[in-house]
Amino acid sequence: AALDAKIKAKGKVYYGNIIDRNTINDGTIQNILNTEFGAITAENSWKWDSIEPSRGNFQFGNADSIANWATSRGKLIRGHTLVWHSQLPGWVNSVNDRNTLTQVITNHINQVAGRYRGRVYAWDVVNEVLEDNGNWRNSVFYRVLGEEFVHLAFRTARTADPDAKLYINDYNLDYAGPKIDNTLALVQRLRTAGTPIDGIGTQAHLVVGRIAAFDSQLQRLGATGLDVAITELDIRIPKPVDQAKLQQQQRDYNTVTASCVNLPQCVGITIWGVSDRYSWVDSTFPSDDAPLLWDDSNRRKIAYDGVDQALN
Ligand code: G3I
Repeated sequence: AALDAKIKAKGKVYYGNIIDRNTINDGTIQNILNTEFGAITAENSWKWDSIEPSRGNFQFGNADSIANWATSRGKLIRGHTLVWHSQLPGWVNSVNDRNTLTQVITNHINQVAGRYRGRVYAWDVVNEVLEDNGNWRNSVFYRVLGEEFVHLAFRTARTADPDAKLYINDYNLDYAGPKIDNTLALVQRLRTAGTPIDGIGTQAHLVVGRIAAFDSQLQRLGATGLDVAITELDIRIPKPVDQAKLQQQQRDYNTVTASCVNLPQCVGITIWGVSDRYSWVDSTFPSDDAPLLWDDSNRRKIAYDGVDQALN
């Protein structure tokens, strides 16, 4: 059976993947998504620059296509992402007073989360708010509003879409260090303040052979008692790709999937792409390659078996 059915049999909510304009009309990818996966995230089309390119000018065409694709096939949706410093249109970056930025954030979340109210399983309410050294990322949101922007985003999202799970999401939570420490401290402050947060997303953009700390760090996220999700999993291979590295990738996918299966708070896994052909890794890490479960020709890799075996 499909990966999604198998992880559900383990008590989880979904095994998911991404879709967007570049893959929504690819029959092979659609077939794989339909057969294997139970949840989808829009790779780009739900981001701020896609939806609100200028102030108050909301463009939902591409976002709606993805929502409809998912809903008509019974797939859950992860909403990615409401407040993020990247893929943020220039007009937001140039806001420099508290009142205006508060209105801008509130309106964006009300429009986006409100439009899909009741149709989204979980929102990445804030994405990548800390740097790897644990400091606040220098975004317009933090410069103008300080930590309050995070509280504001969660409160607004809860009101706009009351039944959705609300997540903080970040990368490099896969190893011990100041980033995961300060993420956990921030989560604790949010909860102490009564700010509504339901889950922590760990993106998990990993490198083969370098996942030794993943399981212990996932357990630290789970120890908060909040839901945990692996939200953007891929495991890239430093070139040249060879059989030994592909076998290591198979073992690493097995380990990461098992970590979620074995952690009661972990609700599901999203892999950040179906085919290696469309992965963001090619352009961002030109010296790495082949991070996914299907190769450039959409052939299933042995990494798939690593996932599958963790679910049997
Ligand atoms: O849409 C334009 C298109 O009009 C233009 O012709 C083309 C030329 O470069 O660019 C297109 O935009 C690209 C966009 O993807 C859509 O394809 C951007 O250049 C490109 O930078 C953008 O990359 C995305 C990246 O986020 C941006 O930060 C990747 O596809 C997407 O996989 C990646 O996803 C992020 C998560 O959202 C957050 N966590 C990290 C993850 C990987 O970077």
